[in-house]
Amino acid sequence: MNEDSKYALKYHEETKHSEFNIRSSSHYLDWDNKPKAFKFYSKIPSTALPVDFPTPDQNVVTMIDTVQVSSSVSANIDIDIKLLSSLLFFSSGITRQIKFPHGKYLMRAAPATGALYPIEVYIVSKNINGLQAGIYHFCPGQFTVTILREGDYRLLLAEAAGDNDQIKNSPFTIILTSIAWRNAWKYQARSYRHWFWDSGVIAANLIATAMSFGLDTKLILGFVDKVVNNMLCLDEGKEASVVLAPIGIGCSQEKPKKTEYPSRFVPDIVPLSKNKEIEYPQIWELHNASSLNSSEEVRKWTDSVPMIQFQEPEKAGIMESKQIEPRPAISQSLSNVILLRGSTRKFSRQPIAFEQLSNILYSLTRRINSDFIDKKSMIDIYFIANEVSNLQSGAYFFNRRDNSINLLNSNVNRNTSGYLCLEQPLFSDASVVFYMMANLKLILKTLGNRGYRLCQFESGIIAGRWRFRIRSASGSNCSASMPSPTRRRTSCSGSIPGSRSCSARESSRAAGTSSAS
Ligand SMILES: Cc1cc2nc3c(=O)[nH]c(=O)nc-3n(C[C@H](O)[C@H](O)[C@H](O)COP(=O)(O)O)c2cc1C
Repeated sequence: MNEDSKYALKYHEETKHSEFNIRSSSHYLDWDNKPKAFKFYSKIPSTALPVDFPTPDQNVVTMIDTVQVSSSVSANIDIDIKLLSSLLFFSSGITRQIKFPHGKYLMRAAPATGALYPIEVYIVSKNINGLQAGIYHFCPGQFTVTILREGDYRLLLAEAAGDNDQIKNSPFTIILTSIAWRNAWKYQARSYRHWFWDSGVIAANLIATAMSFGLDTKLILGFVDKVVNNMLCLDEGKEASVVLAPIGIGCSQEKPKKTEYPSRFVPDIVPLSKNKEIEYPQIWELHNASSLNSSEEVRKWTDSVPMIQFQEPEKAGIMESKQIEPRPAISQSLSNVILLRGSTRKFSRQPIAFEQLSNILYSLTRRINSDFIDKKSMIDIYFIANEVSNLQSGAYFFNRRDNSINLLNSNVNRNTSGYLCLEQPLFSDASVVFYMMANLKLILKTLGNRGYRLCQFESGIIAGRWRFRIRSASGSNCSASMPSPTRRRTSCSGSIPGSRSCSARESSRAAGTSSAS
């Protein structure tokens, strides 16, 4: 079924924004039925994680620009529950509390569309110091883990990922899943895209944190969905796995032993909403159509990634070309960047330097360890420069093969960048707005419906990585937004500011509003 890519194309067309559907939608937010941000098991006790964990203090820029962790570093690291706690905290933990007159807002290590946090985190671990072998769920709200299955399930997980050796020789694998209703409450059927954007930004934090500790890791999108979902005790048709990340590849020398295939077991959870959850069949139609059903199918699919033949970027239509000029930037530690982050709610319309833009684009050419991106990137970067020193305003294409930026249209302005992002002022005020585009038809032809997951997920990782680079280099922030109403290809966009206004961001929260993603 994955090969029949009509499902992804159909979903994409049906859930696209258009001027008409944005203005005519009758959907409203039922605040009384807003889903809870955390998953709690009603009958299984949880265990507190240690809070005296190490912090990832490596310099962010060095880390993004480092191509690979050396396996000799990896092999000497003491992997225990404190290290795991740090990885969980800096990828998806609660980093701050912001108090308002009517309550408090829990700030997370990674952003999320509409602040709805649909992504859950699980761990499949061998015995490590402080944690017995098992399958665990992580609750960021309480900073606890709940054991769902006892025993070492790494071999079974590796088999589900096409007999993956990296899972076998890592002490644990972190798995991100998505609870459909959490985000569909606001974004309806369109929210399937957010499964991948929201997990992409968490994954960017996770791999950066792991690398900061010298741990090699990889993001795996090819796996037998049903097997992994069953291992994690997920409720079918409500929650599903998105990505597997073995952490500390090469750190576990002894081979995991074969375990029994686990029986089906869906534990009771505290209901997410007071009233009925609304179902959006389009989400599950595409999710099922993009699922892989056997280890063999996974291997075939993963091997097909390098076979996509992207065309050379066209030279025709380029008005002017310029090389980017990345420079080593003063950088903060990763922990600082994550702890101090926050999405911008107001930009000052000040220009940014060409060098800053160059550094951000350069970080895109750095490798991301995954079962697809390091073989082939799915994403093309376009941007609208509204205010960059020493750069003509206009719409550009970034050619990452030769590190050049190519002016395509000098007649676009702030109104255009705002219009393409659902007329949000943030995106007309920004100095630069990036648009991540994918040649969907070509990708789906080779990778089937699952290619859709890849494009969306890679956009999320890029957005997450850019945050590090932007925040680290300029001390300022950025925001992300959704696709244009007019493009035929799939897209996600992000913007960078001249400077950030914290009070505007906080007052928008106080009023209980959030982005029109
Ligand atoms: C993929 C993605 C898309 C987003 N789109 C928008 C957007 O269109 N407009 C906006 O104001 N914020 C957008 N945001 C920012 C979220 O609203 C923000 O992350 C969330 O409210 C939590 O706030 P924080 O990032 O400051 O913690 C987006 C975030 C992500 C991860």
